[in-house]
Amino acid sequence: MAEHRVCPWWLGYLLASPIRRLWQDPGKILRPHVREGMTVLEPGPGMGFFTLELARLVGGSGRVIAVDIQSRMLEGIRRRAAKAGVLDRVETRLAKPESMGVSDLAGRVDFTLAFAMVHELPDAAAFFREVAQASKPGARLLFVEPQGHVAPSAFEAELHLAQAAGFAPVDGSPMRRSNTALLEKMKS
Ligand SMILES: C[S@@+](CC[C@H](N)C(=O)[O-])C[C@H]1O[C@@H](n2cnc3c(N)ncnc32)[C@H](O)[C@@H]1O
Repeated sequence: MAEHRVCPWWLGYLLASPIRRLWQDPGKILRPHVREGMTVLEPGPGMGFFTLELARLVGGSGRVIAVDIQSRMLEGIRRRAAKAGVLDRVETRLAKPESMGVSDLAGRVDFTLAFAMVHELPDAAAFFREVAQASKPGARLLFVEPQGHVAPSAFEAELHLAQAAGFAPVDGSPMRRSNTALLEKMKS
């Protein structure tokens, strides 16, 4: 079974370290999925290792909604985004563990990045339903879990929940040392 322990806020600094780019390059991971003008949902962004790249890729006409249950993570994102000059397109939202509170986004999201966060959720099924509700038909979800924390069988179980919520797997490149799935919101 996957753990549901929440990553401590101070680990957010480590996760956002530039050294991580050596094995997980945000540009390389995100460029195939994100274009200018998109609305992107990023649940569990930590201190923004991926958020800044998402903000650069969506450009001035797009937006990134970063949703976390820890305000210190969101403060870290705002600080980093301001320094990088992209704060104007980054919205941070404080969520509750059982709900992201994104019903206002219904059918508006073009792309969701759920990176190393689903195993921390108390109810992954409810999470995928919220993402599906927020997504446009055909919108993609890049779902990644670290192999160190999430066994392949647990990842498969999470993947089934995503499919039950209305996502279908599409071809995508696997990532080293990670369970990876690229999914698409079904059209009906
Ligand atoms: C291991 S960190 C990953 C951070 C980031 N995605 C990355 O890869 O650098 C997991 C993040 O998910 C957040 N999180 C945990 N439970 C959550 C929930 N119910 N809703 C939103 N975020 C949550 C944690 O606070 C933390 O920022």
